[in-house]
Amino acid sequence: MADKQTFTLDGREIETAAGRSIMEAADEAGIYIPRLCTMKGQKTLGSCRVCTVLVNGRPQASCTQPATPGIVVESDTEALNEARRGIVEMLFVDGNHFCMFCEKSGDCELQALAYRLGIAAPQLPYRYPAGDVDATHPDILVDRNRCILCGRCVTASVAADGKHVFDFIGRGSDRRIGVDSRGRLADTDLTSADRAVEVCPVGAILRKRTAFATPVGRRAYDAGPIGSDIERKEARR
Ligand code: FES
Repeated sequence: MADKQTFTLDGREIETAAGRSIMEAADEAGIYIPRLCTMKGQKTLGSCRVCTVLVNGRPQASCTQPATPGIVVESDTEALNEARRGIVEMLFVDGNHFCMFCEKSGDCELQALAYRLGIAAPQLPYRYPAGDVDATHPDILVDRNRCILCGRCVTASVAADGKHVFDFIGRGSDRRIGVDSRGRLADTDLTSADRAVEVCPVGAILRKRTAFATPVGRRAYDAGPIGSDIERKEARR
């Protein structure tokens, strides 16, 4: 491997190329680090913190932290997984996620991560926010009740689609995804082929007239838990 360097992840020596993030290096080695906001091929905003690991004892987001030579990284520990459960639980109670009736069920990364982390039911009280729905576009809708503010659509709209359809508006608990700041989806040039529509990890941005098109058994996480595609790489070695 050109410019190879090594570091330790959960007691295993990992060899990687210079410039990789800890998460990228782990993926290549067949080790799954839980994540929500980041996705392959797209610049991450590092917003969710689900991927937090300890680097030489200090918490860092593994999707943005470079895998520098000699670092000692811990990821699969009870304390870190408990922290991840806490973040995922907060996302659930901070929105209105009706998984049983959601057309994204089985393809939803938040739901899949909850299963993987062993969350049966959140222990925190639900906030039941009044998230609004924008169904003005003929082919796409945005349901802010299910948005987890990962920012994937914001990044993809600019970097992949060359548009500025989505953005963040508001602060703190009022923060939400805006459409052309405070506009309507119908007044944008968003199309259902846009990457910004594709990248939503949950059921917040949906194409109309496609609900439940994929039968149970063929959805993304019917075949195995989230992350198992990465871990299968390791099994094939
Ligand atoms: Fe790293 Fe979200 S996946 S901060």
